[in-house]
Parts: sequence; C-alpha cells; structure tokens
Amino acid sequence: MPASEESRLSVAIVDVDPGRLDDFLSLVRRLAAVMERKGYGRAEAIRDEAVPSRFYAVWHWTSAETAKHCHSDLEMNDLRAELGRLAHVTSAIDGTQSVPSQHPLDLVAAARRARENAAAAFSHFKVGAALETGDGTVVTGCNVENATYGLTVCAERVAMFKALSDGHRHFTRIAIVADTESPTPPCGACRQILWEFGGDLEIQLANLTADAGTYRLKDLLPLPFDARLLGER
Ligand code: THU
Repeated sequence: MPASEESRLSVAIVDVDPGRLDDFLSLVRRLAAVMERKGYGRAEAIRDEAVPSRFYAVWHWTSAETAKHCHSDLEMNDLRAELGRLAHVTSAIDGTQSVPSQHPLDLVAAARRARENAAAAFSHFKVGAALETGDGTVVTGCNVENATYGLTVCAERVAMFKALSDGHRHFTRIAIVADTESPTPPCGACRQILWEFGGDLEIQLANLTADAGTYRLKDLLPLPFDARLLGER
C-alpha cells in the first residue's frame, strides 16, 4: 500500500508555559530526531502567528501501526511527559486511533438521549453529556445522585470517567443538555476534571429543543490549576 494511504497524522495544540520556550524548542528537536531515527515518521511544531506561546504540534506517522508502537516506546513516553511539564497539550487529531468517523456526529442528540438515564431522584434535575474522543468515539454520561447528596456525580464527570476507563486519552468536544431555559454550564468540579483530561475542549450547551451556545473550556476556567504547577516543585 502506498505510504500516502497508510500514513497517519496526529495534531495537538501546545500552549507553552511562560519562560519555557527554549526548552520546548529543544524538546521538539529531540522528539523529531527520535521519531526519525526509529522510523516512526516526522514531527514538527508550527507557531501560531497570533498567539506566540501557542504551537501546533504535528506528528506525521508512517503508518497507524508505527504510531501505536511509538505510544508504547519508553523513550518517546519520557519526552511526552517532559512536554506535559512545560506546556499544556490539547489533542485535536489522534492518528494513532482507528479511522476517524466520516460523518459529523450530533453530540447534542447523544447528550439528550443520555439525559434520559439520569438517576436524579432527589433534585429531579436531569443532565446528559456526550464527550467526543480524538478518534470520533462518543462516550455519554448522565448525573447519578445519591441519598447522601454529597456523593452525587455530574453527567460530565460520569462521561469523562467512563471514557478514561475505556482507555481514551484524547478529547475534542463535549455536549451538555439540561431542561432549562438558559444554558446549563458545567459546575466547577467538572470544569477542573474536564480541563485536566481534555484540555481546552469545545463545550456545546443545549436544552431539550434548542442549542444554547458553544464555549471553550479555557474561557469557562480561566487561570486553571493543573499538573504544570506541580512540575515546578
Ligand atoms: N448536574 C450535572 O450533572 N451537571 C451540571 O453541569 C450541573 C449539575 C447535576 C448534579 C445534580 O445531580 C443535579 O444536576 C442538580 O445539581
């Protein structure tokens, strides 16, 4: 099969921490060198002209097979971990997974369906969420309440924990649906969890009949606390 049909692409948005630009550029060079030496493919970082601390990291894998192999390569994993300590990385395309869906998914419809399963015996406030992964898989969640109240888990976290437990690590969008006139945004705890595992996700809010706006998580959670700060110790 010709390389062009077999080859795969992964793309991530990389927001480099203040003062770490040189470290980032040197890391990209090392990453690219390992990729080339081991025959995995090519890596490059394209700088955003409008946001100097933002780069688009592009991995051109020679094949889906090498991409998968590379993900279990310890040397590459060390470099990826180093990247996570000096930048916040949001996956946009994950070429190491199965072929992305050819059809745009109606995430809101999936969230509306998931909402029907809500276990909301105490608040009677049903919420549904649908999380899209980097390979186009949709993982849904609903809120699950508890008689102690405090053990309640929101729809968004149920979706994220289900997805993580299924092995997904790259996320692009989440839709959240509740039966309210004005949009129901994710609570603070969910924003933290979504940021930690999904980065700057696109967030689609909707009620039972209409869309209620699209947001970026970065705007809903400015100045986030995350693992980058732990790396400074
Ligand atoms: N809830 C969610 O599931 N997601 C949100 O974004 C807001 C709140 C749930 C938690 C609880 O079961 C009910 O809605 C009322 O707070």
